[in-house]
Amino acid sequence: MFDPKHTCLVVVGAQWGDEGKGKLVDVLAERADHVVRYQGGANAGHTVDLGATSFVLHQIPSGILHERTTCLIGNGVVLDPEQLFAEIDEVKAKGVKVDGRLFISDRAHLVLPYHKLLDRAAEASQQIGTTGRGIGPTYEAKTGRRGLRVADLRDLSRARALLTEAVARANQTLELLGVADRVSLDEHVKLLERLAPKLLPVATDTGRIVFRALKEGKRVLLEGAQGALLDVDHGTYPFVTSSNTTAGGACTGAGIGPTYIDGVLGVVKAYTTRVGNGPLPTEADTENEERLRKLGHEFGATTGRPRRCGWFDAMVVRYSVRVNGLTGLAVTKLDVLDTFAEIPVGVSYTGADGKPCEGMPADVETLGQVKPVYERLPGWQKDTSAARKLADLPPAARAYLDRLQDLSEAPIRYVSVGTRRDQIIEV
Ligand code: GDP
Ligand code: IMO
Ligand code: MG
Repeated sequence: MFDPKHTCLVVVGAQWGDEGKGKLVDVLAERADHVVRYQGGANAGHTVDLGATSFVLHQIPSGILHERTTCLIGNGVVLDPEQLFAEIDEVKAKGVKVDGRLFISDRAHLVLPYHKLLDRAAEASQQIGTTGRGIGPTYEAKTGRRGLRVADLRDLSRARALLTEAVARANQTLELLGVADRVSLDEHVKLLERLAPKLLPVATDTGRIVFRALKEGKRVLLEGAQGALLDVDHGTYPFVTSSNTTAGGACTGAGIGPTYIDGVLGVVKAYTTRVGNGPLPTEADTENEERLRKLGHEFGATTGRPRRCGWFDAMVVRYSVRVNGLTGLAVTKLDVLDTFAEIPVGVSYTGADGKPCEGMPADVETLGQVKPVYERLPGWQKDTSAARKLADLPPAARAYLDRLQDLSEAPIRYVSVGTRRDQIIEV
């Protein structure tokens, strides 16, 4: 999708996350100068399979495996610094050079141990099924204008004052939630004192780096986390994450305006999965769900939880095309459907009143009651994992993709037929 006129591309998840964004970013990063993560945090788990080794990246952008790419963590990310350094050590141990290639926005908010404790405490009553990585409480503090940012580490007395307030508030909240654990100010101060000398040398105005790169005609890839239906505005609220996962979040989270963006690639599985609670209209019956989970290895890359599985939902993807302004689709995991004789595809919803739904219902109660209308497409029952061009695919697989494209109202630009980097078809 990169060409001289398209130098700034966004890659987003167009369903409920885990669509294969890591794989697509890795594939596209071969031609990118910069890769930027712009929202979410260590709740993400992006898998990149190089064949000999495989990586699950949580905060490091998925461009890190191409040596000439510079990776940036933008201001919109909530950064867990301890996790980040652990992740850096892990990728370095696998032979990846990181020093001088990874920079962090000094405007990014910090996820600290008390955020994780609050996240888990809130789960007892809210039951969103969060990843427990402290994402919600950190974004709450950010919009509440009392967060701690990377830049605050430049003045540790100021950071200490902010922490004093934050720890007191966290302890009040824990008491209100009826949780016995308490947070220690001292431990948090010590943590920041330890982290500051490691974090500050790589902290900078990453938005400016992106802007200058684009002015010089360089190629920039903006890597989204989660998926459109987990967006705090557009997703299945309240069963969502706490950031704007849709393409608009790429502007605010990377620090460039919308006029710089040349294209948005939406990654979708050839079927649908979701991890955590909330409605999933095309969820399959137990037998098919287990079959999809087994064939697709559908277990969370961050928490190891089994993912809920179902059929492709064209209502979801059409909605995603709108809220993201998708200019192309990457359909992943086509190979997972190789053995099915017949494949249902959800084309529309019928509401509880028996009438067709015009669009995506705003509330989860209504969405939870819709009945998907299915079309049953013939399977191909052949191995697709060695296909490298559309012509290599069985006719029924091509017909399946054509139908997904028509229903989604966006052109398919990539088809992925296996976990590895080389298992990709550029359309
Ligand atoms: P992300 O969060 O969107 O980056 O996706 P995850 O990495 O959490 O989950 C996607 C999973 O599917 C990973 O285990 C990938 O290795 C795997 N995967 C990606 N593309 C394909 C594909 O085309 N076929 C198969 N079989 N697996 C894939
Ligand atoms: P990637 O980037 C799938 C889900 C959680 C939960 C909800 C809120 O790998 O696609 P949070 O911890 O963010 O407050 O949890 O969002 N969730 C994801 N599901 N993939 C992800 O990331 C997710 N990140 C969060 O399961 O339902
Ligand atoms: Mg994932």
